[in-house]
Amino acid sequence: MTSAADMRGADVLTLSNFTPRAALELFDTARRAKADITPFRRVLDGRSFALLFEKPSLRTKMSFEVGIAKLGGQPVFMDHGAQRLGARESVRDYAKNLERWVDGIIARVYLQTALEEMAEAARCPVINALSDRFHPCQALADLFTLFELAGHDAGRLRAMRLAYVGDGNNVCHSLMHAATLLGVGMTVVTPRGYAPAEDVTRECEAFAKAAGSTFAVTADLHAVEGHDAVYTDVWVSMGQGGGVDEVTRRRKVFAKYTVDAGLMERASRGRPAPAVFMHCLPAQRGMEVTDEVIDSARSVVYDQAENRMWAQNALLVHMYGNGQHHQPGAT
Ligand code: CP
Ligand code: NVA
Repeated sequence: MTSAADMRGADVLTLSNFTPRAALELFDTARRAKADITPFRRVLDGRSFALLFEKPSLRTKMSFEVGIAKLGGQPVFMDHGAQRLGARESVRDYAKNLERWVDGIIARVYLQTALEEMAEAARCPVINALSDRFHPCQALADLFTLFELAGHDAGRLRAMRLAYVGDGNNVCHSLMHAATLLGVGMTVVTPRGYAPAEDVTRECEAFAKAAGSTFAVTADLHAVEGHDAVYTDVWVSMGQGGGVDEVTRRRKVFAKYTVDAGLMERASRGRPAPAVFMHCLPAQRGMEVTDEVIDSARSVVYDQAENRMWAQNALLVHMYGNGQHHQPGAT
């Protein structure tokens, strides 16, 4: 997506096809909507959205439901916690039915491939609300949060350095995409064997090169030094439980990677101000982060949660605002 105009009618399954310009235009819309929602109140007038969730959610469900209502649209929640997509009928048939009623499908799934299948089949846009591979809406909100901390100044945003410490998971992948696209210096620190996927790492190396920024993936905790923000996520993601053994094994492997006050102090070295702490939530307090850090004045976790709604609403404004739209039921 070269500019925000290209978002009209597009699927949002990953951020790898975004450009810095599109992301910054989106942030500008998010900033304006957050300051005053009034001009946006009818953007989704008469439009309905299916929210399909195969996994639990607080932030994603609430921020989409409340956010869509703020824009004048209607969210319809479909709880797929007890029944995987594709179990009762094929994912393709599911999509071909939904497109007759709704203007967009917002789906939280186990498999990115299920989203791809749905997007391929449906005439209406599909938005990834988290999969095994990516969490693009989260990363947009996270970079928008950094953009706010940078005083809504793209130059100051590019001067920032972000460290991700923990599992190289879905949240990490999308954060890597968003940060490297926007030219934010990024260091990913994961235990050996838990690094982000090779293909995503390669893409992000190319994005960082194009942006002229730094990007590194390492197991060395010393690499957290010199960052403006430290981000972590749970060590065991939804669907990765795999029994008590897997949880116990991960807790052992990740024990050194807890974000505590010492790590935050080390991260802040050489930077103008103490680093902020970021987390997509939900957090396993005492595991990937201590209470002291997540409850500190430098923690921006609830700003991130609030910004889920503003970033997603900006996305919806660009996807559906003035222009041509898919008409449910139209052939
Ligand atoms: N961060 C996030 O996606 O939270 P939920 O799982 O509660 O939606
Ligand atoms: N990585 C976590 C993020 C939850 C928002 C998971 O997939 O469970």
